[in-house]
Amino acid sequence: MAILDKHKVIEKNATLLLVFSLLVVSIGGLVEIAPLFYLQNTIEKVEGMRPYSPLELTGRDIYLREGCYVCHSQMIRPMRDEVERYGNYSLAAESMYDHPFQWGSKRTGPDLARVGGKYSDEWQVAHLVDPQSVVPESIMPKYGFLLDREVTPEYIEERLLTDRAVGVPYTDEMIENARADFLAQADPDSDSEGLLSRYPKAQVRNFDGRPGISEMDALIAYLQMLGTLVDFSTFVPDESR
Ligand code: HEC
Repeated sequence: MAILDKHKVIEKNATLLLVFSLLVVSIGGLVEIAPLFYLQNTIEKVEGMRPYSPLELTGRDIYLREGCYVCHSQMIRPMRDEVERYGNYSLAAESMYDHPFQWGSKRTGPDLARVGGKYSDEWQVAHLVDPQSVVPESIMPKYGFLLDREVTPEYIEERLLTDRAVGVPYTDEMIENARADFLAQADPDSDSEGLLSRYPKAQVRNFDGRPGISEMDALIAYLQMLGTLVDFSTFVPDESR
């Protein structure tokens, strides 16, 4: 019982307990954090990942403004029930261009990390205008006003430059063409060759089915690309690290 007696000394002396607790926590911290400084890269590069197109980024800003993250996560955990429900677990690289990230902390609604392509644009519009019209038991709020709010690419260059300042690799060419790319993505009759060369897999459509570019167009452009960039039929995790 000698060892328990010694432990009693620590338990009865708050200062000593604090000192030893700090010591234990520091060792744990060092073991977890120090290796990260010696890794070349903590995020495995994954084919297909690219920065958001100007229209997708605008939609993403609307997603943040409306607080969709309060009810929706965007991180599929590597557990069987999640993977069966939502698809391949989320890779670090898939949120590498997210500022701020949208992993979320609560799922009142389902995870949206791979919602892109799950539903048609028409479904998305109907659901956002009146969720109960397509999912009668839904408690999601209505967002129909997004249809009436026009969005313009007025500040889109500055918006891209802001993300570039925090490390998103937007090229000069992307910044120069930001306005044109914004407009081209929402117009099915546009010449979208340049847009697609800069943002492969960008979906070019009139997302809300109405004339003009509304916040609804931008938000749906964002929702429809979520989780679609990495091709998981060919993706092989890098096991060498
Ligand atoms: C109060 C919580 C809440 C908020 C806020 C909310 N949602 Fe939802 N959402 C839900 C719930 C609950 C569901 C599941 C029922 C349904 O489909 O309506 C859902 C479902 C969805 C789905 C269908 C997902 C799937 O895989 O079936 C999409 C897409 C979606 N929400 C997008 C959004 C967007 C975009 C916003 C912000 C503009 C938003 N939600 C805000 C609660 C919320």
